[in-house]
Amino acid sequence: MKYKLAVIPGDGTGPEVICEGLKVLDAIAQQKGFAYETQQFDFGGERYLKTGEILSDAEVEELRRYDAIYLGAVGHPDIAPGILEKGLLLKLRFDLDQYINLRPVKLYAGVDCPLKDKKPEDIDFVVVRENTEDLYVGVGGVMHKGTPDEIAVQESINTRKGVERCLRYAFDLTRARNKEKKLTLCAKTNVLTFAHDLWWRAFNEVGEEYPDVIRDYAHVDATCMWMVKNPEFFDVIVTTNMFGDIITDLGAMIQGGMGIAAGGNINPGGLSMFEPIGGSAPKYTGKGVINPLAAICALGMLLEALGEKEASATVENAVMSVTANKLKSLSAGKMGYSTSEVGDLVVEALANV
Ligand code: IPM
Ligand code: MN
Repeated sequence: MKYKLAVIPGDGTGPEVICEGLKVLDAIAQQKGFAYETQQFDFGGERYLKTGEILSDAEVEELRRYDAIYLGAVGHPDIAPGILEKGLLLKLRFDLDQYINLRPVKLYAGVDCPLKDKKPEDIDFVVVRENTEDLYVGVGGVMHKGTPDEIAVQESINTRKGVERCLRYAFDLTRARNKEKKLTLCAKTNVLTFAHDLWWRAFNEVGEEYPDVIRDYAHVDATCMWMVKNPEFFDVIVTTNMFGDIITDLGAMIQGGMGIAAGGNINPGGLSMFEPIGGSAPKYTGKGVINPLAAICALGMLLEALGEKEASATVENAVMSVTANKLKSLSAGKMGYSTSEVGDLVVEALANV
């Protein structure tokens, strides 16, 4: 059996970091004895500028033939905000029904944490971000555009089915992690009294089926406060698409920055897509200074989703040994190594962890 992987390097530094991820994939596949093949797709800003195409329905259908998608970055300085994001990244998330955005927040040994006195044992939680609803669906409109009477409406869509499947995933994950077995719902029930009342009721109803999981609640503003003040309180956080987007950038910072933060867009019964959560970083493009560890961590998550648990754990351990023993910093240009040297360090570490 051979895994079939679709690779979308994308824009900016995407290709550079994906290249390092594929280097690690090659090494870990040899080490663990599994076979795979990759197919690269040139979706992204450059192709759009040349051809005007972003991602067609037929191309999405073609992607369905693969076991997983490995994505670099989306975003191009010469293209207006929203075009590639909606046409490529969000289209993939929606069309492939990747209804979970899974974002681990874990401080590895040797990584500088901006929070005073916080250690790796204090920062180890996972954010389960709903990934197909809320403000992201594009329901809304504008009237009297460009005039003083302009009205703009952007709706947050929350369906009982969509919320419930996300909550179930989060409860299952909390159970499987088997840490504190605490699931925190992050919402804003005191203001969003329609949408987040639905979340609150569904959370408690579904939660009845998981008596072994502790149910916890924090408003989104308080969640930000606790993430900085007492990140050790969290085991798993489940939240809406928009709040999840925001708190996971905060999460990335407390785990050492965009250089290390990875995520998975997951369809538990279908095709999932893994990506570093940082953007395309145009100012670092082509310089060989960007940190590839986030992309390598995303590859680790991809391997886990394929069922290659040992390979996934080995990749994560190798990354941890590199952060603990080698890198000066996780920031672009300050690592003490080039992008490809960091990839090499991880490959070297695979054999020794
Ligand atoms: C992310 C990104 C995207 C999002 C953008 C690029 C549309 O910020 O993956 O977090 O908002 O989901
Ligand atoms: Mn984001």
